[in-house]
Amino acid sequence: MKKIKVALLGCGDRGCIYADYSLRNPDDMEVVAVTDISALKREEARVRYSLPEDRAFDSVEAFTAAGIVCDIVIDATMDSAHYPTAMALLHAGYNVLLEKPVCPNKEELLDIQKAAHDNGCKVIVCHVLRYTPFYSAVKKVLAEGKIGRVRSIEMTEHVGMAHFIDSFVRGKWNNEQECGSGLLLAKCCHDVDLMCWLANESRPKFVTSLGFRENFTMDKAPEGATELCFDCPHEKTCNYSAVKIHLDRDTMPFQTWAGIGKPIDTITREEKIEYMKRSAYGRCAYNSGGDIVDNQNVIVSFENGAMGTLNLVGACAKAERYLHIVGTNGEIEGVFESNEFKLRVFTREGRRYSFDTEVISTVEGSELGKHGGGDNEIMRHLVDYLRTGVPTLSLTSIDDSVEGHLCVYAAEMSRKEGKTVDVGDLRA
Ligand SMILES: NC(=O)c1ccc[n+]([C@@H]2O[C@H](COP(=O)([O-])OP(=O)(O)OC[C@H]3O[C@@H](n4cnc5c(N)ncnc54)[C@H](O)[C@@H]3O)[C@@H](O)[C@H]2O)c1
Repeated sequence: MKKIKVALLGCGDRGCIYADYSLRNPDDMEVVAVTDISALKREEARVRYSLPEDRAFDSVEAFTAAGIVCDIVIDATMDSAHYPTAMALLHAGYNVLLEKPVCPNKEELLDIQKAAHDNGCKVIVCHVLRYTPFYSAVKKVLAEGKIGRVRSIEMTEHVGMAHFIDSFVRGKWNNEQECGSGLLLAKCCHDVDLMCWLANESRPKFVTSLGFRENFTMDKAPEGATELCFDCPHEKTCNYSAVKIHLDRDTMPFQTWAGIGKPIDTITREEKIEYMKRSAYGRCAYNSGGDIVDNQNVIVSFENGAMGTLNLVGACAKAERYLHIVGTNGEIEGVFESNEFKLRVFTREGRRYSFDTEVISTVEGSELGKHGGGDNEIMRHLVDYLRTGVPTLSLTSIDDSVEGHLCVYAAEMSRKEGKTVDVGDLRA
């Protein structure tokens, strides 16, 4: 079968996760070029994918000018670079696997959609949770009509402590202006996309949202807290101590230390401490310079009358995504991380009103890698799609992704302006 040729644009954490599929499945996919504005990242990726020097480029313009032939380009640059890079790729006629979020506003979103159509290019958006065994199985049950028409979708996302602090309190998504995305877009556009996908063919109509930065503010800091954790009297007791989270536990080194600009495994403890003292990674979590919300709720009503709610909380003890869907003939309830859900189907058997319960176990997604297996599965689906032209139930084209993104923009408008937003106005 045809080996799929991909080029990688943005050779950071996410880009290499996708491109590494070629290392595990060399008969299915190969990387034919890498592009990054960082010389270090570019060179690391060139070596990682065994490419000659003339297959590494320092800009999207240099890549498109070289006329490299490939089936698709993985665009895994940071959020604010998606629009210019994706537009350049589409105008040059390349198909694009584009990281989420597509972009921060509807004008750019609809521009990308139009450019994809005008140039006859495919844009697949990396909503990786759609490909996980858990959500794929939920979608299959809905598509088979087992619970009837969807009436209500209740979702929560509890973002775990270390992840939230590393990414959204001290990290590169902590400031809406600088990174171009608020918390809902940067983190939960996955969940809003899932809600729209699971609502089964009905489009979002009205959206309302409340959200606040209610915990990571100066007035919540313990008395006497200092600017840097190193000399703070609360360092040994504070849940958010930078020393504990970043230096001692060090759960996200690829992200925390990326700003040092050296291969991660060569960075010494002294260099880390020095970096923490000059970056947000050493600062008090209550005074980190971030402005992103840490607590948000979203309510969506769909055109067919169904309703969805999403409750998002940052810095929780246990990272968890809960899902409860009520349909006209039954219900689905489960927790993503548990890899199983309950399917309850109403029955008229017997004297009393009742329901049958089936527990549906999905394969241990984490065995397949990050995001409950979604990072691996998206590439498997993509390779199949590029070979056959037949999309799977999970495959997210730009047209599919637009509704979820419009919903996120509507929720952010609602949160900031204190009003309910008609998604139809955004579509127009
Ligand atoms: N799908 C998911 O679940 C998921 C999870 C985390 C992050 N993301 C998204 O993935 C994207 C990448 O995140 P990351 O953590 O890998 O970031 P990263 O900083 O590790 O990688 C981005 C890379 O792009 C390069 N780059 C930036 N601008 C460029 C340009 N104009 N041309 C070429 N290269 C450029 C940077 O030098 C860097 O190497 C972000 O949009 C992020 O929001 C998605």
